[in-house]
Amino acid sequence: MLKPLTIGSLVLQHNVVLAPLAGITNLPFRLICRKSGASLAYTEMVSVNGLVREGVKTLALLKSSPEDRPLGIQLFGDKPYDLAEAARMVEGYGDLLDINMGCPVRKVVGTGAGSALLQEPLKIAAIVRAVRAATTLPLTIKIRSGWHCGDNVFQEVGRIAEAEGCDAVTLHPRSRTLMFSGQADWSQLKEMKEALSIPVLGSGDLFTPDDCHRMLGETGCDGIMIARGALGNPWIFRQVLELEQSGTYTPVSTAERADIIEEHLNLFIEDRGEAVAVREIKKHIGWYAKGFTGASEIRRTANSAGSLQEIRRLTERIRSIPDHPGHVPDTDAE
Ligand SMILES: Cc1cc2nc3c(=O)[nH]c(=O)nc-3n(C[C@H](O)[C@H](O)[C@H](O)COP(=O)(O)O)c2cc1C
Repeated sequence: MLKPLTIGSLVLQHNVVLAPLAGITNLPFRLICRKSGASLAYTEMVSVNGLVREGVKTLALLKSSPEDRPLGIQLFGDKPYDLAEAARMVEGYGDLLDINMGCPVRKVVGTGAGSALLQEPLKIAAIVRAVRAATTLPLTIKIRSGWHCGDNVFQEVGRIAEAEGCDAVTLHPRSRTLMFSGQADWSQLKEMKEALSIPVLGSGDLFTPDDCHRMLGETGCDGIMIARGALGNPWIFRQVLELEQSGTYTPVSTAERADIIEEHLNLFIEDRGEAVAVREIKKHIGWYAKGFTGASEIRRTANSAGSLQEIRRLTERIRSIPDHPGHVPDTDAE
């Protein structure tokens, strides 16, 4: 089921990618997920208003490195002209351009961007047309199924995007009003796949390697985007690939977990300096410390940690926890 994925002129080694996650998919986390096997990673969503009005300051959000490739840049905005202008500005910063048409948060939809666009198909057409004309990068959109439950405009939006020159569409099959509640309706991915000739990527409720294989198998979608399932669990990419190759996968060991936390911390230090690194890694330890004996105590200690030494001591504590054969440490046992 895993296979190379072509999006416009971009050929990905395989079709399991890291989703854009605001506040999370910065350079250090992207590098961690790539090392585990993600074939593509995206920036956090970047405000077109910020880019066009503040220029250099917002461009800092696009910080990358040679190992951080291929890179998808995700923009959010609602004005075709501004989005096109922003697309020209970021052309040299990544390998693919995605427009966010799915974000449900009030701050974003209040400006007419994100999933608010799903209520305005004509605007979507104008946006894709303008951005298509402005960039040579592969162009994709990421959408939800509609604004209200039952709106289900996803096929119409997908067809419009395809007609205007979009190279792929990602669907998170939940309405905006659902936010993250309920279950993603994967049957809509199958319907989207039937409606379009361009690749369809699926997003929604991919928490285990089995979920990933099931989505690919049940929906026929061309690729999948792992989002919340990668938080504190970046080895999920390795496990999805392993499951494809051998029909099974190795649970993460405490040594692997500790090594990855250590590496993640070092990447944060390199990228942002010690103070920010401590603050950022504490958030991630909240996700990394799950599913093994003593995890909740480690989360509590991480919460109150204020120095690099404290964080390093915690990592060593995790390393010293014995692995339990047969125990699946990816689910929270507490
Ligand atoms: C904290 C958080 C931040 C997110 N940020 C973005 C974003 O910047 N751009 C975007 O297109 N989707 C964003 N999403 C949506 C995810 O990419 C994904 O589509 C969604 O979480 C469904 O997948 P999941 O159920 O596997 O997590 C975000 C989701 C979460 C939980």
